[in-house]
Amino acid sequence: MSVIPTMPQSKIFTPVTIPTRAGQGLELRNRTVLPPMCQYSIEQRDGVPTSWQLVHLGSHAQGGFGLVIAEAAAVAPEGRISDLDVGIWNDQQATAWKPITEYIRSQGAAAGIQLAHAGAKASTYGWLKELEAVGKTGSLTAADGGWQTLTSSPSELHSLNPAVALTVEQIADSVTDWAAAAQRADQAGFDFIQIHAAHGYLIHQFLSPLTNKRTDQYGGSWENRTRYLREIVQAILAVWPQDKAVGIRFSGDDWVEGGWRIADTTRMAAELYTLGVRAFDLSSAGIGPFKGPSGPGYQIPLAQAVKGALPEDAFVTAVGGITDAVQAEQILVTHQADGVSIGRAALGDPQWPNRAAQRLGASLAAPAQYWRGRW
Ligand code: FNR
Repeated sequence: MSVIPTMPQSKIFTPVTIPTRAGQGLELRNRTVLPPMCQYSIEQRDGVPTSWQLVHLGSHAQGGFGLVIAEAAAVAPEGRISDLDVGIWNDQQATAWKPITEYIRSQGAAAGIQLAHAGAKASTYGWLKELEAVGKTGSLTAADGGWQTLTSSPSELHSLNPAVALTVEQIADSVTDWAAAAQRADQAGFDFIQIHAAHGYLIHQFLSPLTNKRTDQYGGSWENRTRYLREIVQAILAVWPQDKAVGIRFSGDDWVEGGWRIADTTRMAAELYTLGVRAFDLSSAGIGPFKGPSGPGYQIPLAQAVKGALPEDAFVTAVGGITDAVQAEQILVTHQADGVSIGRAALGDPQWPNRAAQRLGASLAAPAQYWRGRW
């Protein structure tokens, strides 16, 4: 392996371990995380990852990330945001992910995948500029292969084709899908799974009182609205190896009165911690038009709140508007989070961590092939 380990000279570049239920935990060489970012690149429309995912994720592993998380991978075909999404609902997909996880690890990073179901926000064209330019936005038409979407309860807040409420039987089947996806992620060699409970997608559609108007055991009270997520986590933990790490991404706040608020998130995070979840990434929003703060580090207070509600060994990451090495170091030094997720800045620069290491005086972690580069 041609990767030099980074010296622990800064907080970001101090290795960290995400605890597991058994074994040593998942050691990360540093505290930078590539968050999941949909690539909308599966032109075969079969959810099978391609050389794009290998090169995209592989280049970020080369770039020095501690944990590289593959984009939202659908646990069921109807859970895809678009038909260009990747999936993890069948064996062909699991087999295709394997060389990708092996390559990520060969470059010294841990390999993660986000398990996802878009619910009412599925069956869209995806969010590619080239499609928007020709008017292909929003819900896929039937002629373009659109499908009936599913949700907690119908809501106009999604501004997409109407979704229908899952029956209790369909909810049970869906929980089984999440667990089967986790098993396939294990077979594919992933070290880490992140459950996508954010951004207005299916789990969030159950959590938020704005979109969950059910009157059965999956709606109404806090206990009922969180039941689908609790069942998913329990089903996943029953099949996911004890010595592998599990994380979750929340929308920490809907940013509107009457929505899912940060107090709900801290309460849920504490509950999931007791079940065995140890990594928490704090995003926000995604339901309806409601927008929160923006600008540098705009979601850090959410991470800080969750960190404050959990035992010390939880790995809480901040995401959103983190672009600069010194800014990122500051977030960790001031104990606002345990790690930083770098999204758009890393799309522009897959070598973001290696460059940050240089800037912060840690030793160059770049692959030996790049040492003669101008850093
Ligand atoms: C995203 N984001 C995202 N989030 C998620 O949970 N699953 C996903 O698959 C995606 N897909 C995605 C695609 C693209 C192109 C972008 C730019 C973003 C959100 C992303 O992970 C991150 O939370 C935000 O981009 C905010 O962080 P930055 O970009 O400010 O560092």
